[in-house]
Amino acid sequence: MGSALRAPRLGLLLLALAALPLPLPLPLALPLPLPLPLPLPLALPLALPLALAEASGQGHWCYQSQVKAESCQGPWEWSDLSDTQCNGSEQSPVNIFTAQVKHNASLGPFSFQDYDKKQNWTLKNNGHSVEVTFEPLRLSGGGLQGTYKAVQFHLHWSDSVEQGSEHTLDGERFAMEMHIVHIKEKFQTVTEASEGDDREGIAVLGFLVKNGSENPAFGNLISLLKKIQEKDQSSLLPEVRLCDFLPSEDKLNRYFRYLGSLTTPGCQEKVIWTLFKEPIELDENQITSFSKTLFYDSKKTMPMKDNFRPVQIRGRREVQVSGAGSLLPSARAATLAPALTSLLVSLLL
Ligand SMILES: *[C@@H]1O[C@H](CO)[C@@H](O)[C@H](O)[C@H]1NC(C)=O
Ligand SMILES: *[C@@H]1O[C@H](CO)[C@@H](O)[C@H](O)[C@H]1NC(C)=O
Ligand SMILES: *[C@@H]1O[C@H](CO)[C@@H](O)[C@H](O)[C@H]1NC(C)=O
Ligand SMILES: *[C@@H]1O[C@H](CO)[C@@H](O)[C@H](O)[C@H]1NC(C)=O
Repeated sequence: MGSALRAPRLGLLLLALAALPLPLPLPLALPLPLPLPLPLPLALPLALPLALAEASGQGHWCYQSQVKAESCQGPWEWSDLSDTQCNGSEQSPVNIFTAQVKHNASLGPFSFQDYDKKQNWTLKNNGHSVEVTFEPLRLSGGGLQGTYKAVQFHLHWSDSVEQGSEHTLDGERFAMEMHIVHIKEKFQTVTEASEGDDREGIAVLGFLVKNGSENPAFGNLISLLKKIQEKDQSSLLPEVRLCDFLPSEDKLNRYFRYLGSLTTPGCQEKVIWTLFKEPIELDENQITSFSKTLFYDSKKTMPMKDNFRPVQIRGRREVQVSGAGSLLPSARAATLAPALTSLLVSLLL
């Protein structure tokens, strides 16, 4: 189980921290308060399983933000559910430590073949997120083997712009994260791809969302959220193009790449991940509209927020980066004591 794996690491981490000159340089931004008296002015909450991890019988999976109100199994218990790989060693999301990524010249530009096709989309509150489905859109390039097709996208968010993303960059959490889920051409459904034996059967394009200018494309989608407030409600968004929701194509050559999993149970390790460097911008009102409008349940008692999985151990996996230029946010990287940082990161992740 995850907790067995992590508890000793916590001990090591605390030892390491106690021995170090502070302030702690890494902007660790993990979602939950650590239920331990920390021997340090550790201003940043750490999320580690500890006592949260006892299994509490069978149930349906949920996010940590739902655990108190519902009897359901939060992220630390996902691996207790039957038929999941949630305790596997190549899970997602991860923290991407930008000073450690490896450049790979084969990670070229994508070919977004159908992303400019006008479509009618179906928006659905699936009880975990808003899931948008559409006719498959072809994608190739980007160092992917073969052609994939986009079949849905969904989002992760919080009730503020301070957190909400699943992946973190150097410990920094973004306001939201958009996942466009693609499957290899030979598959018909995400389920089929997740159960097949192709390690890269699913390609997810991940976009970080930051607080910034108002985004007109998302404006149309957001104004429909009030029709899907409750679980299992759906609505139609007519005549839209996926490319209008994304940064312009010339900004999509820079991305991180690693092998991971779905970020919801069964957490199948069938995903080749792309996380774009260029964030999508929404304004604060647009970002908080999701948590203000949507509910996890059909009785509208639990606002849908913090629907993100905590970061997982990266282990031996390498995170690669595309493009020729220097992608590293050097100002940030340079202020870190490299040895200390890699020690902390390897202990944490
Ligand atoms: C995950 O759990 C299953 C069954 O509980 C076990 O067989 C498997 O070895 C575990 N995997 C890891 C990576 O811990
Ligand atoms: C969207 O739906 C409308 C009304 O049903 C239909 O007229 C239109 O052709 C559809 N557009 C696309 C791109 O499928
Ligand atoms: C670089 O990316 C290409 C395309 O995805 C991949 O086939 C290759 O294995 C990667 N190189 C290394 C050293 O991992
Ligand atoms: C969000 O961005 C706007 C301007 O882009 C800024 O005025 C506002 O303070 C930001 N909100 C937060 C919580 O950072």
